Amino acid sequence: MNFRDTLNIGKNGHLQIGGVDCVDLAKKYSTPLFVMDEAYIRAVARAFKNTVETTYGYGGVAYASKAFSCKAIYQVMKEEDMNIDVVSAGEIYTAICSGFDISRAYFHGNNKLVSELEFAISHDIGHIVVDNLEEVDLIDMIAAKNHVVQKVLIRTNPGVEAHTHSFIQTAKIDSKFGFSIKNGDAKQVIDKILTKQNVEFEGVHCHIGSQIFDKSAFALAVDVMTDFIAQLAKENIKVAVLNMGGGFGVHYSGDDPKFDIAQYCDYVATLTFKLNECIKSKGIDKPYLMIEPGRSIVGEAGITLYSVGAIKEIKGIKKYLSIDGGMTDNIRPALYDAQYDAIIANKADQKGEEVVTIAGKCCESGDIIVKDICLPKAERGDIVAVFTTGAYCYSMASNYNRNTIPPVVFVKDGKSAYAVKPQNFEDIVRNDVEVKYE
Ligand code: LLP
Repeated sequence: MNFRDTLNIGKNGHLQIGGVDCVDLAKKYSTPLFVMDEAYIRAVARAFKNTVETTYGYGGVAYASKAFSCKAIYQVMKEEDMNIDVVSAGEIYTAICSGFDISRAYFHGNNKLVSELEFAISHDIGHIVVDNLEEVDLIDMIAAKNHVVQKVLIRTNPGVEAHTHSFIQTAKIDSKFGFSIKNGDAKQVIDKILTKQNVEFEGVHCHIGSQIFDKSAFALAVDVMTDFIAQLAKENIKVAVLNMGGGFGVHYSGDDPKFDIAQYCDYVATLTFKLNECIKSKGIDKPYLMIEPGRSIVGEAGITLYSVGAIKEIKGIKKYLSIDGGMTDNIRPALYDAQYDAIIANKADQKGEEVVTIAGKCCESGDIIVKDICLPKAERGDIVAVFTTGAYCYSMASNYNRNTIPPVVFVKDGKSAYAVKPQNFEDIVRNDVEVKYE
């Protein structure tokens, strides 16, 4: 865990988040429960914005809302003067419902549906990030119908592939996302856009991966992107916007670096430092810079609280602590072998005594949330807190086994409130109907 002023252990030995005792939260709202530290979310968003402002002076930050999407988070982003990245009509709809100005949104996706493009354009979406050739025709047609000229970026593939602790530069162009710069596909789609009356080419986008710790990967991507911008400039094609995507790594467990907010800003500063340098050395016009972090804004802000139920010891092999949630609220261990850190929230000041495995309650042997973790001796009813669950947990939750999706509670300054209410059994059967053939 990566403790901070709003995530720490209280005098009573309980874990606290946002000034609220986690045991009290579990009592008040029941478990499983997603808890989001609102002050931390705002602080990271502000720090990213501020770093773009002070180190580059011409740009903004779009929160990648796939990481965690609900009305309350768009409300926060609106108040923090942020842009957003959206990837479906559902996310756009949620943002609109929260009063977010959708002209500040970047709409992504490798297969945006015609209905989604119609929805987005008729609601005055700010930018669409084009990801296939036919999309250009579709956008042109729908924009014409709506009597608008739609601003677009193109998603490029710069051939920089980052994995958590390292990156490689490849000529590999096999990705469902983006147009390769190297093989000319990116230039080809721009040429096509420039022939369209109702589509305006604004700039280029790339996203080199997620959960990246190696900052030099971002610098290399900036180098490739600015080479491309310089090449386009030679042909009198102006790139007004450069969107560098997201991907900044966060601490989950073990050896992952433990960054504080200022250190997160180094990701941004590395990127802007390189961009300033490239603009000078390559003699290109200064583009408006966008970055699109998701995980780093909400990831560490979130924890999940569970209650310990059945405890099963297989002598000489393993001890399982079963909790009242699992892969339905956190699919990441099963899907990516993601590693998490956890503690017992009501025994947060006690030393680890035994190695246990925290198992979810779903009918699936892969439903393990944390493997082999040393915890104080656990009993039924203890509250387990799993850290860094703010990103890609609630947003990837499911009703597998007809478990209900847990609520989300925001905490701030010692207070708590629902951001998303709990599902109930009625929600589970809401769309089930009697089958009647006609
Ligand atoms: N921009 C684009 C175009 C993206 O595709 C993504 C993430 C982001 C921004 C935000 O990246 P972040 O800052 O959150 O790393 N479900 C996976 C993560 C998938 C990320 C997909 N794209 C997980 O749970 O790890």
